[in-house]
Amino acid sequence: MASQEDVFKKLIAHSKEYGFVFPSSEIYDGLGAVYDYGQNGVELKNNIKKYWWDSMVLLHENVVGIDAAIFMHPTTWKASGHVDAFNDPLIDNKDSKKRYRADVLIEDLMAKYDEKINKEVEKAAKRFGDSFDAELFKQTNPRVLENSAKKNEIHTRFVKALNDSDLAELKQIIVDYEVVCPISGTKNWTDVRQFNLMFSTEMGSTADGALTVYLRPETAQGIFVNYLNVQKTGRMRIPFGIAQIGKAFRNEIVARQFIFRMREFEQMEMQFFVKPGTELEYFNKWKETRMKWHKALGFGDNKYRFHDHDKLAHYANAATDIEFEMPFGFKEVEGIHSRTDFDLSSHEKYSGKNIKYFDPEINESYTPYVVETSIGVDRMFLSVMASAYQEEALENGETRVVLKFPSALAPVKLCVMPLVKKDGLPELARQIIDDLKFDFKCAYDEKDSIGKRYRRQDAIGTPFCVTVDHDSLNDNCVTIRHRDTMQQERVKISDLENIIGKAVSMKELFKKIAEK
Ligand code: GAP
Repeated sequence: MASQEDVFKKLIAHSKEYGFVFPSSEIYDGLGAVYDYGQNGVELKNNIKKYWWDSMVLLHENVVGIDAAIFMHPTTWKASGHVDAFNDPLIDNKDSKKRYRADVLIEDLMAKYDEKINKEVEKAAKRFGDSFDAELFKQTNPRVLENSAKKNEIHTRFVKALNDSDLAELKQIIVDYEVVCPISGTKNWTDVRQFNLMFSTEMGSTADGALTVYLRPETAQGIFVNYLNVQKTGRMRIPFGIAQIGKAFRNEIVARQFIFRMREFEQMEMQFFVKPGTELEYFNKWKETRMKWHKALGFGDNKYRFHDHDKLAHYANAATDIEFEMPFGFKEVEGIHSRTDFDLSSHEKYSGKNIKYFDPEINESYTPYVVETSIGVDRMFLSVMASAYQEEALENGETRVVLKFPSALAPVKLCVMPLVKKDGLPELARQIIDDLKFDFKCAYDEKDSIGKRYRRQDAIGTPFCVTVDHDSLNDNCVTIRHRDTMQQERVKISDLENIIGKAVSMKELFKKIAEK
């Protein structure tokens, strides 16, 4: 069986070969951690965004959207804390001259202990067969106990060092556990220091005194500074939410794992404004709603888990991540944070403007508390690609690569194929597309054998292939082939819109989210 690493490599190659994701400016050898979406990638990405956007603004009467600018007044980032505290702890290896995030080195170290434990468990499971009790084994096996103790020890020191912003202790953990540089193999480390992740640029010409502005590192601040505009013009009453999708930029030092950690990426964020004291109730509600949104896609409930933060950000009083099982382990896809009134109070202080909410129910003004849901489009894209990618052995001995997307997210919904390139079949195929193109992204393919054409559509995850043959000219029927089962059925051309429409609609997904 192929290792997860091999599967991931294949997924990256497949993404490029089939027009999903290209390295940015590839003809100049690319730019680190920056990627472009191709013709199929952009359709999948747009569908993911629509799934998120509609789940916010259609399913919740009290959630509306905005689209704020990327550039914001620089004081925004002073007020938000990003100028002073949006840092990563960095460490360099003096021999390889490579730079690392100290926290990532320590997380990788802890993951190694987890791996050791898992290996012991797997070995024992093979040895003992059906009677094996993994939990009991973990509680009693001396090697497992030793490794868990070491991991816990590192974890405790790590969490404390993060909470105390103790850079010297982070380095000490690296030294004490003899972490080596993967390039040079040495333990010759510099001290750990902070590095700000924001990109900056100049606005205006230097002659008139250019203003240093930042490329926003999160979309959330565009929502905070507009909250009162939306509340007043939309006559919103607390609790209400503002949703936004847009680009964000971070000068990530450890850029790896394809589109998982990028320097330019996209976020889908929703800020939910609530009465102080009710924030944890809404935090729990949004946790549940967001998890349902993920699980509705049907990739398997066991692929997701919550991970509560060890260190709360400077603005949060509760925070959790929704992690998804990527080919390289469980990783954060979405963050849900109870951000208190930190941001609004701080903007009030720095701007000198009163941005309190007047609550007509209690006849009082207050600064709302905020619960935020924040998901990266690109990470979501990666999780969808990774779950959809499958290699299947066929009965005839061939293998097919198929992307089993939920139909609602598939970039192309159907491909219409005339059996042969003559006898009026291409014309009928084109006519079918002309009727369906208003509702669905359609493709047309008349080249090569039908089998090869199916394979091409499987590789980009098209849920339906529609074949037009000579009988179609007389009986007005076509053969529809389903991507996942490869089953074929004869249906009336006039029924296609209905059959495909039902299958690709997001409505069924939304119903699952709205279920009580
Ligand atoms: N407003 C809160 C906020 O920005 P975050 O946890 O830093 O919180 C939220 O980011 C989400 O944005 C993450 O869960 C992740 O999906 C995505 N994200 C963050 N940094 C990213 C990066 N460098 N590349 C791709 N996605 C990223």
